[in-house]
Amino acid sequence: MSHNLLKGKKGIIFGALDSQSIAWKTAESVHAQGGEIVLTNAPVALRMGTINELGEKVNAPVIPADATSLSDLEQLVDQTMEHFGGKIDFVLHSIGMSVNVRKGKHYTALNHDWMQKGWDVSAVSFHKLMQTLYAKDAMNEWGSIVALTYIAAQRTFPNYNDMADNKAYLESIARSFGYYMGKDKSVRVNTISQSPTLTTAGQGVKGLDGFLTYAEKTSPLGNATASECADYTVTMFSDFTRKVTMQNLFHDGGFSNTGVSQEVIDALQ
Ligand SMILES: NC(=O)c1ccc[n+]([C@@H]2O[C@H](COP(=O)([O-])OP(=O)(O)OC[C@H]3O[C@@H](n4cnc5c(N)ncnc54)[C@H](O)[C@@H]3O)[C@@H](O)[C@H]2O)c1
Repeated sequence: MSHNLLKGKKGIIFGALDSQSIAWKTAESVHAQGGEIVLTNAPVALRMGTINELGEKVNAPVIPADATSLSDLEQLVDQTMEHFGGKIDFVLHSIGMSVNVRKGKHYTALNHDWMQKGWDVSAVSFHKLMQTLYAKDAMNEWGSIVALTYIAAQRTFPNYNDMADNKAYLESIARSFGYYMGKDKSVRVNTISQSPTLTTAGQGVKGLDGFLTYAEKTSPLGNATASECADYTVTMFSDFTRKVTMQNLFHDGGFSNTGVSQEVIDALQ
């Protein structure tokens, strides 16, 4: 149902790889609410994925950018402002990758070059993105920047591996840059901590099925789906959340504040 919550708003969505991606669902929700979009992803993902289909569906140009490259990000922001004929109202950072997870390295025996690569892609890219937006004064006042994260930043989940550390760093960048974005640009910066979700990135985590079932049984409202995450993100881009900033917002059906549920206890007996 459209309430035109984002009518007149324009923004960039990073990270739509295929129709399961949280960013894909977000692009659809933003479009349904009247927002205008530029889609972007890494050049290699553009070759492998189906983002052009999404571009046609939501009437958005697709501009390649490796989020670890400052020059790619600069070009992306320039081209986006040219396309919109002005500044940007919202940005979604929906990017995560760990080489150690991909290659099955255990947390106690990480390859630290790979660790650094995953950190650059999953966390530092958020700083590079905001630094670019800040330097170019690319955001409209009362704009909104969101990155997606996971509760492994606060609590330990075996097999989430070095992504847990990347997410902790990402959430810290949201707070630190959020201060300057707020003070100097009147722009808010938040992270949304989403339930485990079946996507390409999610499937990389060993034992995701167990994660999903455990979270489903623990959360009073059940796991949040990718589409529900998309709708929540839309509210964070809308004018109804203007003074929410520097927060890590749990979108997880209540998982984060539940010790244990009766269903989990029953399953163990
Ligand atoms: N799936 C889950 O269980 C879950 C839970 C909480 C948070 N998240 C987070 O949500 C976000 C989106 O993940 P998803 O689950 O939709 O999976 P996804 O695989 O669909 O999305 C990850 C995206 O990151 C992009 N990416 C990787 N390297 C990049 C680079 N160098 N430059 C630009 N883009 C790059 C990929 O191309 C892909 O589109 C990630 O930050 C992820 O950690 C996922």
